[in-house]
This record gives sequence, structure tokens and C-alpha cells, in this order.
Amino acid sequence: MKAHIVTLPGDGVGPEVTAAAVAVLKTVAARYEHAFTFDEQLIGGAAIDASGEPLPAAALAACQAADAVLLGAVGGPKWSDPNAPVRPEQGLLALRAALGVYANLRPLQVHPALASLSPLKNDRLRNVDVLFVRELTGGTYFGAKTRSADAATDECRYTVAEVERVVRRAFELARGRRQHVTSVDKANVLETSRLWRSTVQRIAADYPDVKVEHQLVDSMAMLLLTRPNSYDVVVTENLFGDILTDEAAALAGSLGLLPSASLGEGRRGLYEPIHGSAPDIAGTGVANPIGAILSAALLLRHSLGLEAEATAVESAVEQVLRYGPHSRDIGGHAGTDEVRDAVLEAVGEQADTAAAFFC
Ligand code: NAD
Ligand code: IPM
Ligand code: MN
Repeated sequence: MKAHIVTLPGDGVGPEVTAAAVAVLKTVAARYEHAFTFDEQLIGGAAIDASGEPLPAAALAACQAADAVLLGAVGGPKWSDPNAPVRPEQGLLALRAALGVYANLRPLQVHPALASLSPLKNDRLRNVDVLFVRELTGGTYFGAKTRSADAATDECRYTVAEVERVVRRAFELARGRRQHVTSVDKANVLETSRLWRSTVQRIAADYPDVKVEHQLVDSMAMLLLTRPNSYDVVVTENLFGDILTDEAAALAGSLGLLPSASLGEGRRGLYEPIHGSAPDIAGTGVANPIGAILSAALLLRHSLGLEAEATAVESAVEQVLRYGPHSRDIGGHAGTDEVRDAVLEAVGEQADTAAAFFC
């Protein structure tokens, strides 16, 4: 098949991990006979430096015309002055809003070979398989903001329609998994959370086959550490989802491992690892590319409908996590390129096996 992919490497380790993910997509294209074209555009601090804008109009237009968008990370100390008039993160938020990608899927699994890296005891980590569905285009991130010399506000606003579409997506996804949705809110305090919870309760009636559980976010932060293997799909609002998924990454062993897919109504999606620009290791060639590579696998699955290719990439990553090489954040000594090359080789082996099977 033909597909046009826009890449937004961004800042810090963003270009390093995006290059690895693009290499994987190129190998997939070559081995499975697809024609993927790539167009690299600016976002974040790199775009501010080049044009003054965190999301230049040309970059946005390219993303809107693409089949899928693959992003690295934005931000870093250079642009982090709290009084700066423009910030890299604004570009990412504007992109998510413009693409209408309201459902951010963040899958979490704990690979047995990495369980010892987690601060949790191994028995707690057995069979952890959670799909976080984070609302991505509403809440405090997008509410009205004010700032004066002595005060600031960030409005948190949700409409029923915004809650309903992401919650329905979570229920649909649960049907293809273990039929269990946990909705996380702060309904004991926040009005937006009470709207959220009553919407979930109404929608749940349309999915009698799916078990529904409600948790308050403070308690959920604790439960994720004490019984992470009792969750299937976890749906929550934008800010809670941001925080809980970084916490969840500690269970997997490193923030560098987790991918994400941001989806709206159509097939076009935005794919990015959940980590940031990692300024502490940027430019040293040691960033773990697996979160970005697994994001490319999600791109193959959700935007291009290439399930076999997505599975081949995931199996290749599984093999590398099992046998190495491992980057530093997961206890090894390998650099980004060495991990990338091991994944590329394993993808090739997957393709050979598939070809042999069909002969
Ligand atoms: P971060 O995710 O960049 O880093 C947190 C820690 O995780 C650091 O110690 C870092 O070295 C490590 N880490 C992250 N990715 C890694 C990888 N691939 N391999 C190995 N180790 C990795 O979070 P931060 O330091 O709080 O934020 C830095 C900047 O990134 C901020 O400007 C923030 O706004 C931005 N950010 C961007 C995104 C995004 O673009 N999607 C996401 C999160 C943070
Ligand atoms: C993420 C990041 C972003 C967010 C920032 C960089 C805007 O932390 O993708 O998790 O908070 O959504
Ligand atoms: Mn985050």
C-alpha cells in the first residue's frame, strides 16, 4: 500500500528516537512491499528557533494532509522560562486539537525480562496489561487561562459530548480485550468529574457486557502500584491521564518504553512515545528508542490497517527486550542505534518467517 507519513522529530532526544522509528517503518515498507513516503516538519523549540512559532502553518498543513503523523518530543530547558511568551508545548497541544485526536491510547505491559527494574515486587507485576485511554483535547489543558502579577487561573471545562466520545471509545476497546473499564475521576470534589461520572454511568448501559468500575484519581494512583494487574481499560481526563501514565511507566521499567496513539474520528492519527525530550541525555546517543518504535507499530495498525506488520514490529521489540541489547535506562549498555539495529534485524526475521509460511 501507499502511505504518506509526516515526521515531527522536535527537540532533545526527539530526533534520535524518531530516526530509529522511521528506520523501522522503512524496513517494514521494504520487506512487506509498501510505498511509504516521509516528510519531516518542524515543531516545538526547533520550530520556535527557526520561525518564532511552535507549530508553523506549513507543518500543520502537512500533518492535515498526511495519512499519519509520527512525533518525537518537544520542549527543553532552552524554552522553559516560565515567563516566555511562546513555548514548545503549545505547538503539540495545537496539533492535537487541530487533528481532533481526542483519544490517546497508552498501552502498558510489563515484560518479564524487565520486571526486576520496577520498584515493585515481581509478583505484583505478573500479567499487567493495561490500556489507558486518556482524553486529549479538553480539560485544564485547553480551558481559558489568565495570568496577572499576583494570580493565575486554568479553567477546567468538559462538555458531555467530549466525555461521551472518549468514553465510548474506551468501551469499544474493552470489548476487544477483557471487557473491563475503570473510569478515573475526582467526583468527590470536581464538578467536571461529576459530569464525567454521570456520563460514564449512562453510556455503560449500552455496554452490558462490559464491567464498569469507578475510582477516584488519588486512590487510583495508589492502586496502580498495589494491584496493577487488576485493570484492563482505564479511561480518564486529560491531566489525570498524563500523570497516571508516567507513573505506570515505572512499572514497565522505563518511561522510554511506552508508546501512544492519538486518534479521532478518521484514520489519521498522531503517534508519539509518552516520554519527553529527556534533556539530561539528549545528544549522547543513549535514548531508548522502543517507545518511539512501538508508536510506529501503532501507526501501522491504527492509521494504515497493517495488522500483520504492526505485530511483526511488536514481536521484534519483544525479542529485543527478551534477549537484548538493552539501553541504559533498562539496565544495559547499548546505545540508541544498537537497539534500533537489533529491532531492524528482528523485523527482517519476522518478515522471512511470514514469507516462508505463505510459500
Ligand atoms: P522526560 O520524559 O523528558 O524525562 C524524564 C526522565 O526520563 C529523564 O530522566 C529522562 O532521561 C528519562 N527518559 C525519557 N525518555 C527516555 C528515553 N527514551 N530513554 C531513556 N530515558 C528516557 O520528562 P521531563 O524531563 O519532565 O521533561 C523534559 C521536557 O520534555 C519538558 O519540556 C516537557 O514539557 C517535555 N515533554 C514533552 C513530551 C512530548 O513531546 N510528548 C512529553 C513529556 C514531556
Ligand atoms: C505528554 C506530555 C505533554 C502533555 C506535554 C509536553 C504538553 O507530557 O504527551 O504526556 O502533558 O500532554
Ligand atoms: Mn506527559
